[in-house]
Amino acid sequence: MSNRRKFLHSSLLGSLGLLLTKKAGAAMSSPVFDNETVTGHPVVISTWDTGLEANKGAWEVLGKNGSALDAVEAGVRVTESSINCCVGLGANPDRDGFVTLDASIMDHQFNCGSVAFLERIKHPISVARRVMEKTPHVMLVGSGAQEFAVAEGFPLEPQVLSDDAKKSYAEWLKKSEYKPVINIENTPGHTAPAEHGPSAPSRLPNGDWNHDTIGMVAMDAMGNLSGSCTTSGMGFKMRGRLGDSPIIGAGLYVDNEVGAVTATGQGEDVIRICGSHSVVEYMRQGMSPEQACRMAVEKINRIKGAKAKEIQVAFIAINKKGETGAFALQKGFSYAIKTNTVEKMVEVKSLI
Ligand code: GLY
Repeated sequence: MSNRRKFLHSSLLGSLGLLLTKKAGAAMSSPVFDNETVTGHPVVISTWDTGLEANKGAWEVLGKNGSALDAVEAGVRVTESSINCCVGLGANPDRDGFVTLDASIMDHQFNCGSVAFLERIKHPISVARRVMEKTPHVMLVGSGAQEFAVAEGFPLEPQVLSDDAKKSYAEWLKKSEYKPVINIENTPGHTAPAEHGPSAPSRLPNGDWNHDTIGMVAMDAMGNLSGSCTTSGMGFKMRGRLGDSPIIGAGLYVDNEVGAVTATGQGEDVIRICGSHSVVEYMRQGMSPEQACRMAVEKINRIKGAKAKEIQVAFIAINKKGETGAFALQKGFSYAIKTNTVEKMVEVKSLI
């Protein structure tokens, strides 16, 4: 299906979705979309609508005055656990038919850990944390990361694709063409709420996930920041490909004096500008989280030129005051926020 047809299809289904979401939202304690700014802590934010459920997981920790580090691990584990989701073992495989996972985690003291090209392990984020806490290294990849995980007691899961991933892969094999789709959801025009409920992941009409990552950043009751990011990477990528998510400074960065940032979208273009680190540095210069995220997106837009319209990138950020913000290249990105008083999706402004 062409991108334009996909968009029209999404728009039609999405309008219906919005109506149903509003109806479902009436029974909920908080609106699904409400773009009012939130400041203070504890606070947790995470990318895409899968973030709503993930934030609940994080809140099990933050709501009991737990640490931001424990919260961001617990939060994204919720998403990794879902076999029918866009990250974790249920996700789309690489072009050779294998699911390979990347994840990173960072705390308020510049401690960080990551894993990449990890296969058959359900919770890469927890392996990343063990790398941070139990090794002298920051990053382990491939079979070495898997051996470490197994030695740490993580079960080796069967090497099978989820039913949805099998279907997507069979469909992809017909053309075997690597052509990442522009990640969109969550705005009016998003199909998932009508089909699956407000916090369910969504697939594009052709069966592909319309994103493959969850990034989460949080500030705890002590005012400390941490972040996590976990992904299956771009569907049908070359075997061995890594994106931004496991790379500290690209997919995730935390400086407890300034703020915490994570990224989603086309990893190669986030890596090019050390995206999350750049956003932290823009905040250090005095920019708000949204302005800082916008600066990074504008830089990617300049670099990509005419090709910018073919990709999506987005950043979400919390600064030291507990202010949150985000910015995306394309329309259709939103993030989930949870505090003591607020639980909602925030629709994000975009350049294009
Ligand atoms: N942002 C996820 C990836 O590019 O793999």
